[in-house]
Amino acid sequence: MSTHKTFVSDIKAIRDRARAHMEEGAITAGYGADREQVIRILNEALATEIVCTLRYKRHYYMANGIHAKSVAEEFLEHANEEQAHADMIGKRIVQLGGAPDLSPNGLASRSHSEYVEGTDLVDMLEEDLVAERIAIDTYREIVQYLGNDDPTTRRMMEEILAKEEEHAEDLSSLLQQLGRNEQPAKAPASRAAFG
Ligand SMILES: [Fe+2]
Ligand SMILES: [Fe+2]
Repeated sequence: MSTHKTFVSDIKAIRDRARAHMEEGAITAGYGADREQVIRILNEALATEIVCTLRYKRHYYMANGIHAKSVAEEFLEHANEEQAHADMIGKRIVQLGGAPDLSPNGLASRSHSEYVEGTDLVDMLEEDLVAERIAIDTYREIVQYLGNDDPTTRRMMEEILAKEEEHAEDLSSLLQQLGRNEQPAKAPASRAAFG
């Protein structure tokens, strides 16, 4: 028996299996992950993205109201990117044969990060940074969990993770800029206190 023959019969088996499980869409028998578990994890990530979208939208409206235009634009950009992440995750859940959970009931408890309204610009930026750091940690764990069992979902989560890292970077540089702007007013007072 040649290896060529074995290979051909393997191809036939793969094709038969693909036809037999046609109703399972993109998920073939070779899928290595625990599908139910992956769908549950992705629904939590979806809730996280929606909560982040809502928080950034709130911060966008508020920053616009206090004429902090450049920060407001940054909030809007992040809100749109979080919405795009939610779309990617929702579509992947359906590909895996699951249903995206968009119910407002329990949205906050399914989400990894919190919805915090924030009082002023610095407060909003700090809350967003905390939320991004939580997302970065949990998404990194998801990437590790998926490993080679579901490379498509892993690649998607890696792409989202990279964007959350960019978001955190944006927020921390905005915080630094705002901090620098406040320096001249604060410096003489602290010098006097120690002088
Ligand atoms: Fe996101
Ligand atoms: Fe983000």
